[in-house]
Amino acid sequence: MDAVHTQSDPADDPAGPNAGFTPRVFSGIQPSGGLTLGNYLGAIRRFVEKQDSGIETLYCMVDLHAITVWQDPAKLRHATRELAAGYLAAGLDPTRSTMFNQSQVPEHTQLAWIFNCVARMGWLNRMTQFKDKAGKNRENASVGLFAYPCLMAADILVYHATEVPVGEDQKQHIELTRDIAIKFNTDFGVDFFPVTEPVIEGVATRVMSLRDGTKKMSKSDPSDMSRINMTDDADTIAKKIRKARTDPEALPSEEAGLEGRAEARNLVAIYAALAGSDVETVLTEVGGRQFSEFKPMLAELAVAELSPISAEMARLMEDPAAIDAILAGGAVRAREIAAPIVKRTYEIVGMVG
Ligand code: TYM
Repeated sequence: MDAVHTQSDPADDPAGPNAGFTPRVFSGIQPSGGLTLGNYLGAIRRFVEKQDSGIETLYCMVDLHAITVWQDPAKLRHATRELAAGYLAAGLDPTRSTMFNQSQVPEHTQLAWIFNCVARMGWLNRMTQFKDKAGKNRENASVGLFAYPCLMAADILVYHATEVPVGEDQKQHIELTRDIAIKFNTDFGVDFFPVTEPVIEGVATRVMSLRDGTKKMSKSDPSDMSRINMTDDADTIAKKIRKARTDPEALPSEEAGLEGRAEARNLVAIYAALAGSDVETVLTEVGGRQFSEFKPMLAELAVAELSPISAEMARLMEDPAAIDAILAGGAVRAREIAAPIVKRTYEIVGMVG
């Protein structure tokens, strides 16, 4: 039943799946705690690159996604403003990118309901992020956590976004977004939603924990030593890198030598991302060095990149009203795009009024 892969996939269209759609970039981050180096390298830095690409860009604080697990209201308010400060400090410019809060654009939830009725239970049951987050106690997970990918599909498709820059861990959700778009178009005999491209590029699409090279660096890891936060000061960054888990071998001079050395690979990839280089090139420079020599080089690079950003975030956080004004202005622009798309969707579905 409803096997989406038996339906014709517009991706097979030789003119391209989204030939009729204006290129548009959308992405979002949950304000569910501080920002990590993973968020920065995997997402925010890429958002800034896209801003400079000439395509319209929209970047969201997905607060409705954050509350799929319990959030203290005061902390949520703080984290939402801090996330906006992080976007701004990293180089997003509200005159060129639309920055806003998901909950201020009700069209996201209006479209999400339609998608709840398009997506199949089986599709959502396969989502690895739900399995990871719900853990063993699935019965106690919120309904919102289960339906989360439908809201994410709505975030993207309510703007007819054609490109979504994200880290590797979001790939499955974007594939689900594509499945929802295709099923909606097929069910209603329209070509209304684009088939969005995940943009997962660069050397830092999956930054790993500093304590365990097989686990993703995450804001929800209980150990603060496992991650670099965008608000860490220079000493803390240097200390975390100094204490990062490694192996006793020197660094190899070729990528093949990183096989089976997850922690070494992670540190080299972080270095390459920060230096705007790639793993192979970095290894030709640092191959043969011990970690005792490489770690201070990495710390210096990380501090040089992150310190100005964290200083600017702290400055911006002194004026929360200015941040709120930027988000309110962004929501107005976002609604200009989203409202007609929701109106048309409701007409297609057969809603009267
Ligand atoms: P979230 O808030 O967990 O993460 C935000 C972005 O940061 C990336 N990221 C990483 N990239 C590389 N290495 C890491 N260790 C790392 N950790 C996080 C994520 O891949 C993501 O791009 N469901 C999304 C939020 C969302 C969204 C959307 C994204 C809601 N609606 C619509 C795109 C489009 C999430 O939980 O991301």
